[in-house]
Amino acid sequence: MSEPMPLKHRRIVLGLSGGIACYKAAELARELVKAGASVQVVMTEAAEAFITPVTMQALSGHAVYTSQWDAREGNNMAHINLTREADAVMVAPASADFIAKIAHGTADDLLSLLCLARPRERCALLLAPAMNREMWSHPATQRNVAQVRDDGALVLGPGSGDQACGETGDGRMLEALELRDELIAGLQPQHLAGKRVLVTAGPTFEAIDPVRGITNLSSGKMGFAIARAAREAGAQVTLVAGPVALPTPRHVQRIDVQSAQQMHDAVVPIAAAHDVFVATAAVADWRPATFAQRKIKKDGSKTTPVFELTENPDILAAVARLPDRPYCVGFAAETDDLARNAREKLARKNVPLIVGNLGPATFGRDDNALLLVDAQGERQLASADKLTLARELVREIAERLATVAQRAS
Ligand code: C5P
Repeated sequence: MSEPMPLKHRRIVLGLSGGIACYKAAELARELVKAGASVQVVMTEAAEAFITPVTMQALSGHAVYTSQWDAREGNNMAHINLTREADAVMVAPASADFIAKIAHGTADDLLSLLCLARPRERCALLLAPAMNREMWSHPATQRNVAQVRDDGALVLGPGSGDQACGETGDGRMLEALELRDELIAGLQPQHLAGKRVLVTAGPTFEAIDPVRGITNLSSGKMGFAIARAAREAGAQVTLVAGPVALPTPRHVQRIDVQSAQQMHDAVVPIAAAHDVFVATAAVADWRPATFAQRKIKKDGSKTTPVFELTENPDILAAVARLPDRPYCVGFAAETDDLARNAREKLARKNVPLIVGNLGPATFGRDDNALLLVDAQGERQLASADKLTLARELVREIAERLATVAQRAS
């Protein structure tokens, strides 16, 4: 699901305020550069007590700014110039003191100044708090955090666990890769802000006996990418996953199931509480009619077991039949004649959008190509990594959702 250079063409101001987590900012700078970003580091005086500008310059490839009086700027206005071209300011670590400053609009050093002076509508502010657990839970800090959130900043974490001071609790700065991913997410357009999205993903497993079952080659990667992309687009996402070994996308609520019946029972009761349902799962069409409580053994005779199958419930069709149904998107994994099969499925399932893909060409792989089929026609999303495709699909879904809402009003 890896996406090549997800921060290409992005300009990021990476701010460091004082705290022992400054050591993680070095790795963060490196990860951002590796992801394609142009990184300009700005450090407070306190940050310089923990890590040197030399390190940050070497990792970011740009001379570090530490003072609002930096004479390198022709107009001597580093606090303005540094954010006019920037896509985001990410402060990591953001100390309790620094968050307090931002909450109050205090601007007595370059980093706080540029946070205040940035063009808010096109330059996001992301803060990665890092502090002792008592400092984090203090009502003053919590007030300040609520205030900066209210003012539009994204507060990332903090994580929980062992702290440098020897105590254990909330206040650890998130790890470099987590922060990189939060930044990537924070820069995505918020097409689905305030919406609730339900996704099924992966195969199902239909048990024959305690050790065997019927399943398929779906890896779950497409569905997990869609859940992540919907979350990045601002939606609240529930992901119902069959048996796969994939990490849960950040901030996505995951429900694990095994069989088609379990997936049906997890999905149908909550579907109407969602705005969109994306059925990506490769649900087994049939299951063994009976489950053998003990492992079926070879008994030395020549007779082979015969299994009777029974049909599984169609989850997508069941959701599409709900009186208060969400906007339903089905997938069609085919081996041939994608357009015809997808169109046939559109009618049979009675859903507004079917996404066709060639099963054997994509199962388990990181790349895919999608064919969107709806009443208006067809649209091909050319071959790309699954996350890129998922983001495009989310945009397409959001557009259709807006049209449906317009028609209804
Ligand atoms: O019926 P068919 O398997 O061809 O349709 C595929 C679509 O229907 C996919 O979106 C899949 O997730 C969904 N489906 C389902 N429950 C089933 C079978 C398929 O939700 N039992």
